[in-house]
Amino acid sequence: MPVWHLRDYREADLDQAIQIWDQSRQADGEVPIFPVSEVMAAAAADQASVVAAVGDEVIGMVVAQPRGDRAWVLLVALASQWRNRGVGSALLAEVERRLRAVGVRRISVLLPEGATGTKALENSGYLVRNGLAYYERIEPPGAADADALAVLGGRMLPGGLWEAMAGMESEKQVVERRVVLPLVEPAVAERYGVAPPKAVILFGPPGTGKTSFAKAVASRLSWPFVELFPSRLAAATDGGLAVALRDAFADLAGLDAVLLFIDEVEEIAGIRSGKAVDPGHGVTNELLKIIPGFREHEARLLVCATNSIRSLDPAFLRPGRFDYVIPIGPPNPAARAAIWARYLGPAASVDVDHLVRASELFTPADIEFAARKGAQAAFERELTHHQGTPATTDDYLTAIADTRPTLTPQAIAEFNDDIEAYSRF
Ligand SMILES: Nc1ncnc2c1ncn2[C@@H]1O[C@H](COP(=O)(O)OP(=O)(O)OP(=O)(O)O)[C@@H](O)[C@H]1O
Ligand SMILES: [Mg+2]
Repeated sequence: MPVWHLRDYREADLDQAIQIWDQSRQADGEVPIFPVSEVMAAAAADQASVVAAVGDEVIGMVVAQPRGDRAWVLLVALASQWRNRGVGSALLAEVERRLRAVGVRRISVLLPEGATGTKALENSGYLVRNGLAYYERIEPPGAADADALAVLGGRMLPGGLWEAMAGMESEKQVVERRVVLPLVEPAVAERYGVAPPKAVILFGPPGTGKTSFAKAVASRLSWPFVELFPSRLAAATDGGLAVALRDAFADLAGLDAVLLFIDEVEEIAGIRSGKAVDPGHGVTNELLKIIPGFREHEARLLVCATNSIRSLDPAFLRPGRFDYVIPIGPPNPAARAAIWARYLGPAASVDVDHLVRASELFTPADIEFAARKGAQAAFERELTHHQGTPATTDDYLTAIADTRPTLTPQAIAEFNDDIEAYSRF
């Protein structure tokens, strides 16, 4: 066996340190008590963490966190081929020496039974305290991040938004299966080799529910929802949009989990003109650079929405950046019926089928608007005539006739072409 030596932990050790930690954990089948981020933050902050290395290769590591005269050992990790060779005990001895130097008199270690390092601890004179139970309570993500969230203009959305999306069954099914479930069931997903999505694009005509879907997903995941507005970003900093974009992504780093929504993403990821002075060029490049870093974090989902997928930069759409490109289409008759029913409220005797037929090129947003208009007509009539009659089918048909549908046959044809050309899920 080659000789090993002990030295300080350095930031550059991070990747290797995580690797050997994973090795130890898999061997023990344990769930870590201290999460990676916490351990690595402690390793970087206090001078009490020691690495065992052979040449450049890290083979073991102990991370401790001193607090007054007590210290917690957060991590004991050993590369598998270096178990039972005294590396663990040597690491502990060095960490103890450093802790004593800063006044620590009691060193505590919390480990799953039989975990890596147990033997080293016993050999180094640590006493096992039997009969203890470990309690923990995990606050929903976001609760502790309230300040960071507020700075970003983010918020926790209420539950139930997913259920409130009426109709749109096929879109809901795709979003649920591809996006929501792997994030809700990460252990099952991992067992079946399904990588949880980190970034998706929703595209479709205006008012079809892209923003609503993004919010509904955040609501289902109980993740905070943060929306970036390209137009506001540009105004916020002197350095221009590219700098603002980088800063905004950097600010997210403090959040445990986040769904980041960028609406009208074509504004910042439009096709590059190829001209050297194209102002959009740098911004698109910046976003392309940012996405891989974003993808490395756990509990992150970027949802981008656009009405105009064909004007996005092709580099942006390449697999590897976005896991799925999902069309959110105009509602079919069943979806329109569900959306009408949702907005009709207490109007009992309305012929929904008739409304569905009359609102063919309507988006959910158009239906919402026409439903409100129909109700408003009945309300005004009531204030004048006091007859107590609720809104009728005719009220709604009149409202429909007065509402200009968002969709046109041409827009639908183009959308269908876009589905062929761009969708991927
Ligand atoms: N499935 C649905 N059921 C009920 N209401 C819906 C549904 N989808 C969308 N809506 C309503 O329609 C309106 C427009 O939806 P939304 O803003 O999500 O569309 P969008 O696709 O993001 O539009 P845009 O492209 O203009 O940003 C919202 O008021 C929303 O509540
Ligand atoms: Mg929207």
